Amino acid sequence: MIQFKQTKNLDFDKVIDIFFEAGCLKHKSKRGIYKKAIKKAFLNSDYVVSAWDKDKLIGFSRIITDKSLFATIWNLIVKPEYQDKGIGKSLMQKCLNKYPKLHFFIIADKKVVKFYEKLGFKLHDDGMYLEKGKQVCVIYN
Ligand SMILES: CC(C)(COP(=O)(O)OP(=O)(O)OC[C@H]1O[C@@H](n2cnc3c(N)ncnc32)[C@H](O)[C@@H]1OP(=O)(O)O)[C@@H](O)C(=O)NCCC(=O)NCCS
Repeated sequence: MIQFKQTKNLDFDKVIDIFFEAGCLKHKSKRGIYKKAIKKAFLNSDYVVSAWDKDKLIGFSRIITDKSLFATIWNLIVKPEYQDKGIGKSLMQKCLNKYPKLHFFIIADKKVVKFYEKLGFKLHDDGMYLEKGKQVCVIYN
């Protein structure tokens, strides 16, 4: 049975493995840099939820929020061999239930838009992000 935990106390080598396995990170040579940045990002998040098959980490997601109006969900990833079993949807529901009164925003790859639409999200034409900011971010530079 799959269990869900709210904890930031994760083995970040396992977290990074799942990022790579799911294709969310590409450059193996930057593993150490990624690990440091992602660990800091998770520890600084307001909520981190993870999915477990016994003692094996199989997925996670995290929220950043002002706890008054807005929340964003980041790094929703399920280990490939556990995908399509409802785990991603459960992780999302845990996130949405954590702050039920807030406005949630997501920046998602086009290929997962349908997944988020099933959870009630709507595509918005007017979203913006800073391209230069992305270029200097440790994950992309
Ligand atoms: C996207 C992701 C988190 C989905 O998790 P998952 O556990 O495989 O999804 P679920 O099994 O909970 O799927 C829930 C529903 O969404 C559908 N779905 C899942 N992935 C989908 C996709 N890429 N496109 C369209 N529908 C999708 C499922 O068929 C299911 O539909 P149903 O409720 O009608 O049966 C997972 O595929 C993943 O980790 N992908 C790689 C990382 C990624 O892209 N993360 C998103 C960051 S932008």
